[in-house]
Amino acid sequence: MDSLYTFSLYLHSWNRWIILIAGLLSIAMALKGLRERTAYSGTNRNLSLLFISSLHLQLLLGLLLYFILSPFTLQAMNDFGAAMKDSTLRYWAVEHSLLNIIAVILAQAGSILIKRTADSRVKHRKTLIWSGIALLIILLMIPAGIMGPERPWFRF
Ligand code: HEM
Repeated sequence: MDSLYTFSLYLHSWNRWIILIAGLLSIAMALKGLRERTAYSGTNRNLSLLFISSLHLQLLLGLLLYFILSPFTLQAMNDFGAAMKDSTLRYWAVEHSLLNIIAVILAQAGSILIKRTADSRVKHRKTLIWSGIALLIILLMIPAGIMGPERPWFRF
């Protein structure tokens, strides 16, 4: 169980980079598309797809950590009331997990709405709005010591 915990935590940590890079590129390409009035291309679609797929993987790993592997959330679930008084336990059990779930839902909603739109300009605009808000929440909720505990940016 210990090695599965380490493996999942490492994967969750490294997958964050795929999310951040795909999200940032996706938004930058949407901005370029809006400014240069270009058609929504295969690259736009693939970047959005990579963003949403890496988010799905992150959610799955997050749920695995949350309910089965992480000593922090397992301790919090034992006594939720007490955990709410401990800033580290509250961060993992509520803030990080809940806000990131909201971010995944927003990115998923955006992805569905973009697919349903035919007009390239509207597709670029929807990418900018939905992926932008999702990425902003994700950035705020990365454990970098701003809103909670600090964890390494690169885990080796
Ligand atoms: C979607 C974007 C998310 C990002 C970018 C993200 C990022 C991270 C990072 C960087 C860590 C620290 C890893 C380390 O110590 O190396 C972490 C830990 C953790 N994440 Fe996420 N996460 C996301 C979503 C979620 C979700 C949706 C959940 C739960 C449903 C979750 C649950 C956890 C838990 C429980 C830990 C702590 C594990 C531990 O230290 O025992 N995460 N996350």
